[in-house]
Amino acid sequence: MKLLIKNITQLVTCSGFAAKKGQEMANLGIIEDGAVAIEDGIITDVGTTAEVMGRLNTYYPEIDARGKALLPGFVDSHTHFVFGGYRQEEFSWRLRGDSYMSIMERGGGIVHTMKATRESNFEQLYETARSRLDEFLAMGVTTVEGKSGYGLDLETEIRQLEVMASLRMKHPIGIVSTYLGAHALPPEFVGRPDAYIDFLIAEALPHIQPEWGVDFCDVFCEKGVFSLEQSERLLLAARQYGLKLKLHADEIVPLGGAELAARLQATSADHLLYASDEGIRQMAAKEVVATLLPLTAFSLKEPYARGREMIDAGCAVALASDLNPGSCFSSSIPMLIAIACIYMKLSPEEVITALTINGAAALDRADTIGSIDVGKQADMILLQYPSYKFLPYHFGMNIVDTVIKKGEILKK
Ligand code: NIG
Ligand code: FE
Repeated sequence: MKLLIKNITQLVTCSGFAAKKGQEMANLGIIEDGAVAIEDGIITDVGTTAEVMGRLNTYYPEIDARGKALLPGFVDSHTHFVFGGYRQEEFSWRLRGDSYMSIMERGGGIVHTMKATRESNFEQLYETARSRLDEFLAMGVTTVEGKSGYGLDLETEIRQLEVMASLRMKHPIGIVSTYLGAHALPPEFVGRPDAYIDFLIAEALPHIQPEWGVDFCDVFCEKGVFSLEQSERLLLAARQYGLKLKLHADEIVPLGGAELAARLQATSADHLLYASDEGIRQMAAKEVVATLLPLTAFSLKEPYARGREMIDAGCAVALASDLNPGSCFSSSIPMLIAIACIYMKLSPEEVITALTINGAAALDRADTIGSIDVGKQADMILLQYPSYKFLPYHFGMNIVDTVIKKGEILKK
């Protein structure tokens, strides 16, 4: 299967095979009047149309992309897309002034979704998750991360992971799975967080990988949820089982999650609304991807993470949706882009890097996805407009015209 995309008014390559840090994030590797050749789902040539056409020695089916920009597919590196039920009442309570944590403390929040997820069978979870993946794809997301964490018992956590494993085979979007058994304390362990961590280490971790293709272990490291010590204990054990590390860090209060992520050399630390200056410095030094989730801050009416300072301090910043039924029931990439540019003071270039190559790096996949480079998977999107600058400018609108995944045209 061959494909040639030619006469691309603006080819945004985001070229690179590792996270882009600091000032590097502004470099998008743009080629004007570009072309990309694809064979069997892999990018085989990139350059100007004249260069690539000159090097072709056989017939290729063509797409003419005059008047359009071509970008790498977006990589949404932090979501919770497999869950049962909804929490629309909690959203109304929050509008009236209740805090996310106060709802969690009175038995709502994650435990509410846990109950609904435990009551959902495989088919129900599969169907709702599948339709959410269709929405991601339509907005140009070609790889998505998904977490367990709404079972909090072995059986339901495994059901969530099985749903993701099955969708990985059947849905065109790329799926990376994360085990988030330490998302909240289940009712069976109330008042005994250390015993729950012991249970996860002894009973859960040995079964997680590789049967369900899980790459990462994550933890909600937060005051009133899991402490720094408990998080560290779990993550160190997870590493022994071949899992890479992520943390929900410094989301609600400044706890030192960013510093812990740096000390453990986690792949990413996520949220970071209250990350300290020292935490930011250490993440930059230890090359932990700082994954920011502006839709969650928006939904919780919290101040946005200090993305500008993080980039200026030399961090690699990624942006992700955090789609989940509680703190952020939205996966709107157009809205995310608008908030990051208008309120977080990231430039449009930095935002594109954060959603492509740095998203890939947050999933330890920067060698295979996240940019338009020879040898990478052919995951890309064509915009209705001739420049990436229309993404924040035509704010809140989905301007993705064509989605190509592994060389196949999925949306047109
Ligand atoms: O990333 N903070 C913890 N986890 C999710 C929220 C999950 C939920 O409320 O259901 C988050 O915001
Ligand atoms: Fe999350």
